[in-house]
Amino acid sequence: MILITGASGVVGRQVMNQLVHEGTTVTAVTRGTGDARFPDGVAVVRGDLFHPEWIEAALEGVEALQISPRATGPGLGELLRLAAARGVRRAVLLSATTVEYPAGEARFAARFKHAEELVRNSGLDWTILRLADFAANALAWAPQIRAGDVVRGAYARAATSPLHEADIAGVAVHALRGSLRKEAIHTLTGPQSLDQVEKVRLIGTAIGRALSFQELPPEQVRQGMLAQGLSEEIPARLLGSLADYAERPGPTTSTVEDLLGRPALTFADWAHDNAPAFGG
Ligand SMILES: NC(=O)c1ccc[n+]([C@@H]2O[C@H](COP(=O)([O-])OP(=O)(O)OC[C@H]3O[C@@H](n4cnc5c(N)ncnc54)[C@H](OP(=O)(O)O)[C@@H]3O)[C@@H](O)[C@H]2O)c1
Repeated sequence: MILITGASGVVGRQVMNQLVHEGTTVTAVTRGTGDARFPDGVAVVRGDLFHPEWIEAALEGVEALQISPRATGPGLGELLRLAAARGVRRAVLLSATTVEYPAGEARFAARFKHAEELVRNSGLDWTILRLADFAANALAWAPQIRAGDVVRGAYARAATSPLHEADIAGVAVHALRGSLRKEAIHTLTGPQSLDQVEKVRLIGTAIGRALSFQELPPEQVRQGMLAQGLSEEIPARLLGSLADYAERPGPTTSTVEDLLGRPALTFADWAHDNAPAFGG
């Protein structure tokens, strides 16, 4: 059995779907506060992993654990201790490229670094996936694109190689099954470096509209996000990394293709797959 933390997140959902499709038994962990639905056949356990003591019984018979640091937060050390005690064999951590290629405020990369250290010292077999920014982050533009043809945001020239969640999940599933080399760190990115102007244009192509990106001062974007009720942390995380990626693009690796034996999916593929979210 495979246990997925952050199961209602972008990666968790994809990993569950791929595992269920292959007939693997899956347990999903959720706080149960949202309206997330889980595939038929998935066992769902509800609770907050920031305080993970309650999950001990559900770890019985689990072979591998997928870890979303956002979902486990400060509970990760204890979760790993319980997992080792209950005979869990493997842990797959969703980390970030910022550990290796600094971008944005150091405190955010430090959280991933700390999670990596905990996993490496857990006594379990481990795989660390250092992930570039998700293509799915572009869903934040969906309300603007449904309302008009211009996306307004900061740092038009910030460039990254965005990852399709199906590729993240494809690699994670191999790691969870134990078919990747043990104790390895893989840096996963999309195949192509794109700035924000190009990303918006590709979404436009996918939905058959001419879209453009209009650059705004970062402080105006920050104030707009706070006015929407987002916590201070969200603009701090976003704007800090965009500022750095405007100076120096994020990394591009061939790891997805090396591990999956097929080309990594492009941002254009992702935009096509997600066209309905943008009104396409
Ligand atoms: N987005 C990126 O570009 C990027 C890049 C590199 C790494 N990562 C990391 O990759 C991991 C997976 O990301 P993801 O987008 O698939 O998942 P996610 O959006 O971070 O969400 C994972 C799930 O965690 C649960 N959760 C539990 N406690 C939470 C809390 N205090 N705050 C927020 N969510 C909480 C939520 O599920 P319930 O409500 O069901 O409990 C949420 O759906 C994350 O740890 C993220 O930090 C992301």
